[in-house]
Amino acid sequence: MEEFKTIIALDGPAGSGKSTVANMLADRLGYIHADSGAMYRTLTLALMECVGPGDQPEEFGERLRNYVYDPGALGVEVALDASRQSNRLRGQDVGDRIRTPDVTARIRYIADSRACREVVNELLRRFARLTPLVADGRDIGTVVFPETPAKFYLDASVNVRALRRLADFQKQGAQITLESLEREIAARDEQDRNRPFGALAQAPDAILIDTSHLSPNDVVHRILSRLQIQF
Ligand code: CDP
Repeated sequence: MEEFKTIIALDGPAGSGKSTVANMLADRLGYIHADSGAMYRTLTLALMECVGPGDQPEEFGERLRNYVYDPGALGVEVALDASRQSNRLRGQDVGDRIRTPDVTARIRYIADSRACREVVNELLRRFARLTPLVADGRDIGTVVFPETPAKFYLDASVNVRALRRLADFQKQGAQITLESLEREIAARDEQDRNRPFGALAQAPDAILIDTSHLSPNDVVHRILSRLQIQF
């Protein structure tokens, strides 16, 4: 553990509020927010460009079965610039392009790959040797940094999580129904909880926070007050 700076691990399912809370916490503490989901998303986009996205996600998965994974050749660059994580593909910032439904629908093929998970985990550990982190994801407290004492697991009902996503999409002017988001979130929960390694799980020593009826500020306050006890 000594090789790493302080790490706050935030895990939980899609829409539980991890990213917003991680950003706010990192700002408050002067830490960097390491967004592991963005790393999986950037790898997914890179592979979609490399092998072609296919009309359906399953076709993309099929194309990847014969692909020999070579992270160096993909042009993915995840770096810490000016105190934040930047996600680039062949020199271009892809922060917006990685959050489309087409990418989300294909991530499972990358998140299920042990080779891809090792690339992401090693990158997170490299960051943690350089700077204190608020790291969010699915397996941060269980697999990536199991030694950190600061572990939180954020959760909320499927309905609340879908409503949050709906609000995000509406801000971007996208047409999408609550029912389709509920279906997508429930399907992703199922995939995230059942992958053979790096599955979504609450570490035994993680503090559970149900964010269903809490504002991001409330969640940040709860985490900060727990941290005062720990450190
Ligand atoms: O923002 P949202 O919760 O939709 O997802 P994200 O955090 O950007 O992560 C997208 C997907 O990447 C998740 O549904 C997981 O399948 C995968 N992921 C993972 O397997 N392990 C992580 N540590 C983070 C993300």
